[in-house]
Amino acid sequence: MNPEEVPKDRRPLYAVESISKRYGNVVALENVNFSVAAGEVVGLVGDNGAGKSTLVSILSGVNVPDSGHIFLDGEERHWSSPHDALEAGIETLYQDSGIAPDLTVAANVFLGREILKKGFLGLFGFLANREMQERARKELERVGIATPAASRPVSKLSGGQRQAVAIGRAVAWAKKVIILDEPTNHLGARQAAEVLDVIRQARERGLAVVFISHTLPHVLNVANRIVVLRLGEVAADQPASTFTRESLLRAITGLK
Ligand SMILES: Nc1ncnc2c1ncn2[C@@H]1O[C@H](COP(=O)(O)OP(=O)(O)OP(=O)(O)O)[C@@H](O)[C@H]1O
Ligand SMILES: [Mg+2]
Repeated sequence: MNPEEVPKDRRPLYAVESISKRYGNVVALENVNFSVAAGEVVGLVGDNGAGKSTLVSILSGVNVPDSGHIFLDGEERHWSSPHDALEAGIETLYQDSGIAPDLTVAANVFLGREILKKGFLGLFGFLANREMQERARKELERVGIATPAASRPVSKLSGGQRQAVAIGRAVAWAKKVIILDEPTNHLGARQAAEVLDVIRQARERGLAVVFISHTLPHVLNVANRIVVLRLGEVAADQPASTFTRESLLRAITGLK
């Protein structure tokens, strides 16, 4: 099934212009333009070291670019921390997903946003575990993620189930933009297909989705548009329907 095309005139919700980023002598990004609209999935692809995660770090406020501009809803923004970007509605699943194995599923979903018990006990930092479990279950269910009991510690889950919790958490909290850096890594075929479904649902809820993957069939399957990074520069930015697997691979490698 071909994802429907996003109208060409749709204004980008989140965009960066002329972004450059160096690490010492390494040029990670050079003059990169990138944008994503509400209700659009943009696939971001490129070889190892092409600059994808560096771009994610700038979109999510982890790194400040050496030069360039960031626009959300048409307004220029400056993130001084990931918290700034989160507050603005940009949720990121990092390549190494940041799941805490010793905490329960529910505690991971609410990590950094814990709900305190009402009244006296809350004053002393007591957590409303029951409420968080119930809401975690509902949130994960709402975004189409089937996980075991929210009260189970994540260390007792399989790698794929942990990944599902991480993705569910990001999709559940995202208000505007969701950035997924290789979310289908280490997943079996069925679980990867479920993740692609969650991405489609996020798009249908009107979120702007950035999806990074080395698995080209996944990207071709779910993306409306594909941006190819090569050695820190944008090598292609086209509707997904204009690529075949072969032409996409050529754009990534630069080989004819
Ligand atoms: N913290 C860092 N310090 C120094 N160099 C870095 C750092 N992070 C990334 N780089 C370098 O910047 C370039 C881009 O790396 P980046 O992680 O963005 O690539 P990527 O496209 O995400 O690759 P992969 O597909 O392997 O995840 C690489 O040359 C990398 O070695
Ligand atoms: Mg990366």
